Amino acid sequence: MSTKTDSLAAGRGPLTRVSRDLSWFNPAPSWRRLTDLVVGVARNAPSGAGAIGVPVGEKGAVPRQLGVDRATLTALGFEGKAGQTLVVPRRDGADVVAIGTGAGQLSLAELRDAAAAFARAVPKHSALATSLHEAGGDTATSAQAVVEGVVLARYRFESLKSNGERPQLESLTLLSPAERQRAVEVGIARGRTTSRAALLARDLANSPPSHLTATRLAALAAEVGKESSLEVDVFDVDRLAELGCGGLLGVNAGSSEPPCMIKLTYRPRRSAKGSAHLALVGKGIMYDSGGISLKPSDPMHAAMKMDMSGAAAVLAAMSALAAAGCRNTVTGFLMCTDNMPSGSATKLGDVLHIHGGKTVEVHNTDAEGRLVLADGLALAVEEAPDAIVDIATLTGAALVALGLGYAGVLGNNQGLIDRVRAAAESTDEPAWQLPLETKRYRKLLDSDVADLKNVAGPYGGSITAAVFLSEFVGEIPWAHLDIAPVMKVDADESWRSKGATGYGTRLLIDLATNFTTPL
Ligand code: BES
Ligand code: MN
Ligand code: ZN
Repeated sequence: MSTKTDSLAAGRGPLTRVSRDLSWFNPAPSWRRLTDLVVGVARNAPSGAGAIGVPVGEKGAVPRQLGVDRATLTALGFEGKAGQTLVVPRRDGADVVAIGTGAGQLSLAELRDAAAAFARAVPKHSALATSLHEAGGDTATSAQAVVEGVVLARYRFESLKSNGERPQLESLTLLSPAERQRAVEVGIARGRTTSRAALLARDLANSPPSHLTATRLAALAAEVGKESSLEVDVFDVDRLAELGCGGLLGVNAGSSEPPCMIKLTYRPRRSAKGSAHLALVGKGIMYDSGGISLKPSDPMHAAMKMDMSGAAAVLAAMSALAAAGCRNTVTGFLMCTDNMPSGSATKLGDVLHIHGGKTVEVHNTDAEGRLVLADGLALAVEEAPDAIVDIATLTGAALVALGLGYAGVLGNNQGLIDRVRAAAESTDEPAWQLPLETKRYRKLLDSDVADLKNVAGPYGGSITAAVFLSEFVGEIPWAHLDIAPVMKVDADESWRSKGATGYGTRLLIDLATNFTTPL
């Protein structure tokens, strides 16, 4: 008879203990696997292609390759609207997929969406080919968007499922005439880089909180950094105490898991004339229970493993800078801990000493993100960068204000905010500006005993959170992205696959590589 004692004697411990050894867990399976994906360019589809995507407009000739005419397409309900797809099975050879391209030229976002629709239309095929990018504008940029759409749509987080994984994408061939193949190759390289980074951010945010602790994220960051030419410096609890990071330590006080700050530095190989310095700060709450201000039981509670999506986006974006040829220096601060209630947790009324000396009275331990960001921003300021951008799943109020389609962006410098908005536009990671109303709202954060308290009244929560953060950035141009609304989707939606979206990764790559001063 097998008893609990038997398994203990065998050194395995009871089941709950066994599952606590999580060292086998790979927190970045998709990021690792993407190196195996073959993406290439050719004139004709390779013989191994399982599905070939053919762009078809609402009007005009139907490509002969499709094997059916307009009347047949119409009879089957395919009108050629942007992003519409129809699989035309053939008795022999690859499935052919009609991909609608609408009435005119597709925008970049529509092209990425159409590529995602194609990838989703043939979920069983692992070898795809398409000439869809030919329906876009600039060849390289279009090819990049198609690679992103296909790779991101086929993403699944299945490494913890024991019943095997669904068919993986193994190859993608972009079909182009010889004279455009060089440009397509440039786009393919960029698309691989940006989508691989976004997969990393998704893997991290989808990982369960006990599998991906702050310490394990630091170990992974070291590995990622090595591969992508980043300096990685991990600050443990002792170094954080030396630095006086009372925000991060205060949030960590209730946890049995140690906190850490991961500092990443990217230095361009050839520092170009006039190259700039950008600092990025990411909220890395590995799990947000609310602390003593415990969150109510609610499905959103389980989503709080994704409260490190900002930190994930910073790490992921920085992993791509070398490959993207970024000419600017970029420093990243990932502020990592979980937020737990316990006998040692921070209490309401406690005062935390942020790096640099400002004091904060805690009125709600669930407003923890701003506390860890305060330390991160104060440290970033000391690097004297040209600009600071922070990214955080900061407020539920952002969901109320914007719905699930937009991140909020606020800041103290319109030039920088406009750069963020432009990057949001070209990557289709939408961001909408909210006003940084310091004049009238700052007094809502007044504390009787400290420099400020960590929550204001019931209204404008995303704005008052940003007003809080603005206290720690001094005079440096700064923008804040509140990504709480966009950290996940509840169902597949174009290139966003169910679960963590990886939002901010491609936006930050775009921002960092195109960043110039003056603002
Ligand atoms: N991590 C949450 C914000 C959040 C909510 C992210 C929903 C993603 C989806 C944050 O730490 C939080 O709890 N914010 C509080 C602030 C409040 C106590 C002032 C909130 O929004 O309720
Ligand atoms: Mn919280
Ligand atoms: Zn949080």
